Amino acid sequence: FSLKNHNTFGIDVKAKEFVAVHAVEELKSILARNVGKPMLVIGGGSNMLLTKDVDALVIHIDLKGIEKIHEDDDQVWLKVQGGEKWHDFVMYCIAHDYGGIENMSLIPGNVGTSPIQNIGAYGREIKDTFVSCEALHIETLEIHQFTLEDCEFGYRESVFKNKFKGQYIITSVVFKLTKRNHNINIEYGDIKAELAQNGVETPTIKDVSNAVIAIRQSKLPDPKELGNSGSFFKNPVIPKAQFDAVHAKFPDMKFFPVSDDEVKVPAGWLIEQAGFKGKRFGNAGMHKNQALVLVNYGGATGHELLEVSRMVQKEVFEKFGIAIEAEVNII
Ligand code: EPU
Repeated sequence: FSLKNHNTFGIDVKAKEFVAVHAVEELKSILARNVGKPMLVIGGGSNMLLTKDVDALVIHIDLKGIEKIHEDDDQVWLKVQGGEKWHDFVMYCIAHDYGGIENMSLIPGNVGTSPIQNIGAYGREIKDTFVSCEALHIETLEIHQFTLEDCEFGYRESVFKNKFKGQYIITSVVFKLTKRNHNINIEYGDIKAELAQNGVETPTIKDVSNAVIAIRQSKLPDPKELGNSGSFFKNPVIPKAQFDAVHAKFPDMKFFPVSDDEVKVPAGWLIEQAGFKGKRFGNAGMHKNQALVLVNYGGATGHELLEVSRMVQKEVFEKFGIAIEAEVNII
């Protein structure tokens, strides 16, 4: 079974076996029938680099549905099934005037995978609206509930990437969104400029969503046209002392203080300075508008893409002494 249409890099590798699941009970029985077998669980396939054929049972989570479970005058609680596309859910909220995730418009991937790396963009992360999620334990087949606290969210981090890595399949997520007095956040990057350009003075959540969509479309390649998985690397967070030393050498370096003793540096800037922006090596390369995005120009193998990413890591380290780590799962 070819996985080409199940990963946003568009890599043509094969899975030994493939099954799409549409109900939690179905998922349970598949897991029960395949105890001990190697498995790979995929959602939208937007955060993985497949480097070879997958000698395992690939389970595609295709659970659908959005359900209102509670509301008061100000807020609404929505339970969203893991297989819903993240951006479709954002559009559903905009259409119903539910606020809180508009800054995260157009992020690829599914709702069920969004908590794993606490997806975020333009000043918002899912932890800001997340209430809880349900996840199926792969061995016990029990459904466990995880509260916001249980998830230990950090920058592109959660328990699902760390202590519970590979142990759970997230089946649904509950979000709490605003019905009025939306908490509009237009502080990040180019949002204000984009709104001003459209003559918007008091933005609605739809205006913010439209601005984010326009900005993303101008920088980030559409996976349908050019295989990619968004930011390939995380922005490194480095100790203040190290930052000061590098900054003295490279005064133009962009940065965001994250605490008194740590600074986050945009990997896109480092990669651009290392000369990789828009650079192509055969069928793989770094995108011309956003150097943080590794792209498949067509027909690249996962191995070729991985080689380019390693070269980028190596040269960034040689130039700046800063190690950049892949955000995407390498499989
Ligand atoms: N920059 C460059 N050159 C580049 C890219 C960026 O100099 O090629 C500089 C920009 O000029 C800016 C800074 O780096 O000063 C930050 O750039 P940008 O606002 O584009 O954001 P980013 O840090 O590169 C992060 C997320 C994106 C998210 C944007 C907006 C990570 C790893 N990436 O990118 O998330 O959309 O912020 O919030 O945190 C994703 O995770 O897949 C993703 C696209």
